[in-house]
Amino acid sequence: MRSLFHFWYIYVMPHFLEYQFTDSPEFVATFDELPLWSAPFGLMLLKHVELKPDMTVLDIGSGAGFPLIELAQRLGNSCKCYGIDPWKNANERAKQKLKNYEVENVEIVDGSAAELSFEDNSVDLIVSNLGINNFDDPAAVFKECGRVLKPGGKLCLTTNVDGHWAEFYGVFEQTLKELQMNEALEKLDIHQRHRGSEGSISGLFLVAGLRVTRYFEDSFDMRFLDGTALLNHSFIKLGWLAGWKDIVEVEEHEKVFSALEKNLNEYAQANGELRLTVPMLYIEGVK
Ligand SMILES: C[S@@+](CC[C@H](N)C(=O)[O-])C[C@H]1O[C@@H](n2cnc3c(N)ncnc32)[C@H](O)[C@@H]1O
Repeated sequence: MRSLFHFWYIYVMPHFLEYQFTDSPEFVATFDELPLWSAPFGLMLLKHVELKPDMTVLDIGSGAGFPLIELAQRLGNSCKCYGIDPWKNANERAKQKLKNYEVENVEIVDGSAAELSFEDNSVDLIVSNLGINNFDDPAAVFKECGRVLKPGGKLCLTTNVDGHWAEFYGVFEQTLKELQMNEALEKLDIHQRHRGSEGSISGLFLVAGLRVTRYFEDSFDMRFLDGTALLNHSFIKLGWLAGWKDIVEVEEHEKVFSALEKNLNEYAQANGELRLTVPMLYIEGVK
């Protein structure tokens, strides 16, 4: 009897038991990749998105592979997942992760979600974590989602909405008012309004032929010691500063951003720290 068990063990040993961690610079380069910014939104998506077998899944704006690769692993190999993003270097990074993590049910597609290379009515689930604020033409992306989703298929997305970092933008506005920069104030208003709300995003679903079935709101805080810490943070410089600089004429940059830093520091001193609120939305619609 013992030898029979031995035989079974040799021939059907699950693949995962063979896994061995290879400590190499290439492997370790893919650790710690998940930005703190993306994580709360991705966790919200993973909390609410429906998990079902045998789905064709698409993550639009998949970047370096989050939450695409996590979702694909949680779904398992009966589901085929695709990530689409026009950012080639991020796609290469995602592909390297797929190789290192031995994930076989994901394909990365270089391209824009405004022009999907999928047949009509061919996808069960589309997800997007922090995609919508980055799409040049969100309405075109929604239209494509409406086209490729199967009847009954779902679009689930997470995003930061209206009211994002209200404390920071309040101080920015006050700074521009002090400097009497009315044109910049108008641009700041437009900049803030590009982020949607539950209502405006529901409108995009509707126009694309999708019925919003549920949504959840939440928020988290990002805390900084003061304005100097915020404005010098690598993530702020990478993801936000260029947008803020566009609000002000180049020749006014030094004046405005020094005044902004000073005002943020005063705000932080008065409040004990600079605490910025991030309102989050998970919204889901069905075709
Ligand atoms: C804020 S990042 C989010 C990346 C990732 N989903 C995450 O949660 O970390 C937004 C992503 O949208 C991508 N993007 C911008 N325009 C796009 C488009 N038209 N179609 C698909 N992805 C797009 C960007 O290249 C970027 O990777």
